Amino acid sequence: MNGIQIMGTGAAVPSRIMTNFDWAKIVDTNDEWIQSRSGIAQRYFCENESNTDLAIQAAKQALERSEVDKEDIGLVIVATFTPDCATPSMACLVHEALGLPQHAVAFDLNAACSGFLYAMNTAGAILAQGGKPYALVVGSEKISGKINWQDRSSCILFGDGAGAAVIRLNLEEQFVGKWGSVGNKEALYCPYEGEEAYLHMDGQLIFKQAVRMMTEYATETLAAADLKLEDLRYVVCHQANKRIIQSVMRHLDGKEEQFYMNIQKYGNTSAASIPIALNELWEEKKVAHGEKILCVSFGAGFTFSAMLITF
Ligand code: UT7
Repeated sequence: MNGIQIMGTGAAVPSRIMTNFDWAKIVDTNDEWIQSRSGIAQRYFCENESNTDLAIQAAKQALERSEVDKEDIGLVIVATFTPDCATPSMACLVHEALGLPQHAVAFDLNAACSGFLYAMNTAGAILAQGGKPYALVVGSEKISGKINWQDRSSCILFGDGAGAAVIRLNLEEQFVGKWGSVGNKEALYCPYEGEEAYLHMDGQLIFKQAVRMMTEYATETLAAADLKLEDLRYVVCHQANKRIIQSVMRHLDGKEEQFYMNIQKYGNTSAASIPIALNELWEEKKVAHGEKILCVSFGAGFTFSAMLITF
């Protein structure tokens, strides 16, 4: 399969900002603890918005900016672990809202925080079969509806949001990346029903696993591409905790300015975190056309992925 190139990006967040000071009125916590342990200062929470509203807004923006004709879109994937309903898929509702043609297939994908990179990989494989040249890939979450509002060790970490990209295969490059999974129910678990239908999390277990696996996947991806970290201006890691990203950076011998960080504004938005970051890089003109970015993720499941993408 060829490499993946981004044609346009978009992002959306709900209007309500929930600061650490707001959380301190609800659970026994404080701004200093949250910032020093996670890097998070605020996150966005839905009030009237649905997850699908956010996905549609981000997807519309990505499509407009890509200047791609709707008729040339062959595929829509929404990565989410917090869909608004069991059916229809959020991808089908994005398809409808954007007025996409019938030949564009639409489905959701759940790989938790690795969802966006799993969706990029899946979209690339489908585009490689031929047919229409472009895919719309969205990562969108409404995690505020899934947290335990009394558990200070997990509730303060998460936020709602969406990011999207219109992609095509870059015929001048080979795809370089890796994805994998390991089954584990203890680290992060969110049942659908019952009195405990919220996120249950073993933070320290996830922390260690995340650092180890993101380091491994990033190292192997760079080696497969015959690149050194210093050849890249930016690495975009899943934004789960500032200290996780810094630890991966130290293991890879990287520099602070290479490891893009926006967790302070959004918290952990799961599948949305990487596309929101990619959209910021694009909006702030921090990436040039043709530039490669290394994206790295880990998620509940466990799921892991790393890949090089080109702007
Ligand atoms: O996408 C995957 C999603 N999940 C993650 O990425 C989670 C990864 N893990 C983490 O980010 C970190 O483990 C946390 C931020 C969740 C916790 O940080 P930590 O440095 O591992 O703290 P800890 O769990 O070891 O807790 C240290 C202390 C405990 O008190 P004692 O037992 O030392 O008295 C906790 O009860 O901090 C306490 N604590 C808090 N204090 C104030 C836990 N949560 C809070 C809080 N505010 N919100």
